[in-house]
Amino acid sequence: MAITSSSSAEGDRTLIIIRKFEPQDFQWVINIERMVFDEHDPYLYMQFYETNPDGFIVAEINGIVVGYVAGFLATPEVGRIFSLAVHPAYQNRSVGSLLLKEIINIFRKEGVLEVILEVRSSNIKARKFYEKHGFYQNGIIEKYYNNEDACSMRLEL
Ligand SMILES: CC(C)(COP(=O)(O)OP(=O)(O)OC[C@H]1O[C@@H](n2cnc3c(N)ncnc32)[C@H](O)[C@@H]1OP(=O)(O)O)[C@@H](O)C(=O)NCCC(=O)NCCS
Repeated sequence: MAITSSSSAEGDRTLIIIRKFEPQDFQWVINIERMVFDEHDPYLYMQFYETNPDGFIVAEINGIVVGYVAGFLATPEVGRIFSLAVHPAYQNRSVGSLLLKEIINIFRKEGVLEVILEVRSSNIKARKFYEKHGFYQNGIIEKYYNNEDACSMRLEL
């Protein structure tokens, strides 16, 4: 578990706890997922936890789960980020960056050499966010999201 203090855009200090997902966090995670993504499938997250408990990390502020990241080993050398999201009211306070750094650290300890993910082509904020963390665009997957192309991104460790 990592505890870190971050300042918001308004300048107030906030204690952010980065820790493993626990089953009682499920409703928080689903609420965030419902707010930020068009597709909504709560069962995917419970399934994910059952198969990859070590790759499911949450961020907590004042006892509230405000963000999560879910990542797994696609192969022994390739880590894949399945989902990363921060509650809209808590974005732009470094929560997403802390979650991303934590999953990258976990991958690194596992001996992963590259991290991959997909993001909607139209999701400019997320694409910029990942680029800021060293990812680059690796290709386009047409109609990955039924109605929209995905931008495939990659980070070399
Ligand atoms: C993409 C996402 C995860 C980023 O999370 P976040 O918590 O907002 O990310 P951060 O706060 O670490 O960084 C975002 C921006 O806030 C800025 N920021 C961070 N802390 C800050 C602070 N204290 N004061 C002012 N700005 C700050 C960062 O510099 C960054 O800005 P930049 O992109 O212009 O450089 C979030 O926007 C999200 O959940 N989006 C919806 C879901 C999604 O698209 N997920 C990704 C696809 S899988």
